Amino acid sequence: MTLWGGRFSQPTDEDLRALNDSLPFDKRMYAQDIRGSMAYAQAIAEAGVITQEEAETLIKGLEQVLNEFDNGTFVFTDSDEDIHTAVERRLTEIVGDVGGKLHTGRSRNDQVATDFRLWVRDAIHDIEKLIVQTQAALVEQAEAHIATLMPGYTHLQPAQPITVGHWLMSFFWMLMRDRERLQGALQRTNISPLGSGALAGTPYAINRVKLAEAMGFDSISMNSLDAVSDRDFVAEMLFTLALLGVHLSRFAEDIILYSNPLFGFVALDDRYSTGSSLMPQKRNADPMELARGKAGRLIGHLTGLLTTLKGLPSGYNKDLQEDKEALFDAVDTLQKLLPVVTAVIHTLRINKERMLAALDEELLATDLADYLVKKGLPFRQAHHVVGEVVRVAEAEQCKLSEIPLPRLKRISELFTDDVVEVFDFEAAVTRREALGGTAPSSVATQITQAKGLLNT
Ligand code: ARG
Repeated sequence: MTLWGGRFSQPTDEDLRALNDSLPFDKRMYAQDIRGSMAYAQAIAEAGVITQEEAETLIKGLEQVLNEFDNGTFVFTDSDEDIHTAVERRLTEIVGDVGGKLHTGRSRNDQVATDFRLWVRDAIHDIEKLIVQTQAALVEQAEAHIATLMPGYTHLQPAQPITVGHWLMSFFWMLMRDRERLQGALQRTNISPLGSGALAGTPYAINRVKLAEAMGFDSISMNSLDAVSDRDFVAEMLFTLALLGVHLSRFAEDIILYSNPLFGFVALDDRYSTGSSLMPQKRNADPMELARGKAGRLIGHLTGLLTTLKGLPSGYNKDLQEDKEALFDAVDTLQKLLPVVTAVIHTLRINKERMLAALDEELLATDLADYLVKKGLPFRQAHHVVGEVVRVAEAEQCKLSEIPLPRLKRISELFTDDVVEVFDFEAAVTRREALGGTAPSSVATQITQAKGLLNT
């Protein structure tokens, strides 16, 4: 028997049942559902709806239901439409008719919103822990390669020399913002809708603030009609996870490129690369391609939910049931992905020689312009002069440093003997020591700050 069968003379069609039932996916919220019900039993006792004794019977019964779930002995029946129905059905089997009093003044509309908020709250903590581990791996490698030189790119064209530490730390800060966003999402998630009823609120004298506190919520929702249909916390979480996915995808793209033999800057550990069934020489960066691929899936979940929400009329609508699979999958995806990304970083081999070999003196063209600036030339003119120098090197097919001084002087009188000092990659990197720059000293400052942010 369903929870709402009274007004119907025929049972629900089987195909509709299969479409309508959310149990297959919402059963993972059993602990949150039971926790909410325990708090609710106490709240309706305090409101005088049931006796304290009845509340205790309900709570003890709910404890048993929780145990059955925890040790895998809970048996679902055909009539269990969703997790809320299943828990109440089993509770009533255990405690008898008093089980039927638990739902007084409550609707599955405020119940599901409560359960899901509790679930998301836990997920935020789990995901953040995993991000911290990824960040720790980045810090560890950045520290090991704080002064290792590599080409930095803009437009994927060689731009200026940077340090490997700087490159790796750039992803640390992206992930830091993801953590901050999770914390922001937590604030807006940790609000109790319980006591909103189906849409209009509850006629019973429930102390909603106390009820919220019992479930560890920070505050309560202030409008029951909004509260039962508010899935902003899900959308926000999906956005946060999608952007996290985008960050991992961008990291992945760098690794895919840099591990290509044409670059050869990095190599994935054997445990984290895969071969080809046909081509014996292949060493593919599959985990990184998966990271890149999963970002699309995460973005899909976000756009899917926003599309579901955009046309909904006021109050609860069954469309809202679509919120769960999207977020469950987003969280599951990242719980699988993040540890692999972390391990890839931990075990990544950095090929210093290949990085060094890729440093062309053209990457010092900006430094050459800065050299002229120091001699008093306005930067715009210096830029133009060095452009000519680069053109000469290209025409002569030589390095910038191989252009004879007299030839340089014909372009600008400001070039003197000391110009050779410009052609030093390490010096170029070391000069960029202002905070946030690529100099090892500046990266060290980043790393110190970052370490402080790892201890949560
Ligand atoms: N399974 C539903 C969901 O996930 C629970 C709420 C059902 N409410 C209702 N009025 N049918 O959204």
